[in-house]
Amino acid sequence: MTATMHGSPAIGDFDGIDLDMLIRQGFRPVPVSALRALTPEVLGIDLAPSEAAADSAPGSHIEVAVPLPDGPAIRHYSLLAGPAESLRVAVLREHHSRGGSAWLHANLGSCTSLLVRGPRDTFGYSGTGPAYFVAGGIGITPLTAMIAAAAAAGRDWHLLYVGRRQESMAFADALVREYGSDRVTIHITEAAGRPDAVSAAEDWASVRQEPTTVYSCGPMPLMRALEIGFVDHPSISVICEDFDDASEPARSAPHLGGTASAGAPRSDPPTDTAPDTEATGTDEDFIVELGDGSEIDVPAGCTIIDALNNAGVRTLSSCQKGTCGTCETVILDGQADHRDSVLSAEEHMAQETMMICVSRACGRRIALDL
Ligand code: FES
Repeated sequence: MTATMHGSPAIGDFDGIDLDMLIRQGFRPVPVSALRALTPEVLGIDLAPSEAAADSAPGSHIEVAVPLPDGPAIRHYSLLAGPAESLRVAVLREHHSRGGSAWLHANLGSCTSLLVRGPRDTFGYSGTGPAYFVAGGIGITPLTAMIAAAAAAGRDWHLLYVGRRQESMAFADALVREYGSDRVTIHITEAAGRPDAVSAAEDWASVRQEPTTVYSCGPMPLMRALEIGFVDHPSISVICEDFDDASEPARSAPHLGGTASAGAPRSDPPTDTAPDTEATGTDEDFIVELGDGSEIDVPAGCTIIDALNNAGVRTLSSCQKGTCGTCETVILDGQADHRDSVLSAEEHMAQETMMICVSRACGRRIALDL
């Protein structure tokens, strides 16, 4: 069955059952107000303003449901800098995409609405002390909002923006124009090779009198180099978020029942958000009780999501590794053995929700709002 929602092929393309599930899980149709080709490969999308966006932290993202043939795919897109209530994102056409970004590039011209959830913050920008931003490619998107916030607050900051070619760097000219080349360093790898981001950040931070935070979003090697380079550094800490669209081929296949597939900015949050509550680290079998009273066995070695999908229960997921938040599910009864890195230590303790792609039950039974 195909559901229809007036004027929006994007939403009308979802199977009716999937559409019901997405709405139940908090997705809502949001009108597309403008499209802009920022580069031949980067499409800018303006969605209708949202009050929720005004309250969101710099670096927040939205989830967009895309109707792929295998079922809904959930993609995460960071909000760009802009007026307080604007919902503005940029979508790179991924050469190795499993379909999400390609679908958006091919079909958005005829869409009047998209199914959207959020915004949500998993990056963790905080507004104090010097900030050194390191962006790789489309990873610049969440940093644009952080930079705008840093500049507005009079914070001491600098941006190292790395890309293969100048013409593929959608925001290079605008950022240099707005903030000046003393604030923004553009590094073109085709001309200058790979940058030494660790040395660049260290040099910049070394003349500051306060501890510096390095915020980075981009390819994994770039971020890992920063994390390793500053591990245990006395005055530089690193907060990273990557765009998993670039690693889509490495992700698991879409689930039975139209479960979403990958494409999420992953947060490597500060250590205070690491799993910390009663995690057993072992896999025991247990039972998940659903809202209608039915029960699903979750064997050792099987995730809750896989057990649900094997039983024909539709769920939403994206990263499948506890880092994006798409599969967050309300706990009705029982305790979770949290293994995600999305929820904070306090949220783990509260036992109100859990990430069912990685977390398990403490004990033999847990009741979930599914
Ligand atoms: S699917 Fe990303 S946290 Fe579960």
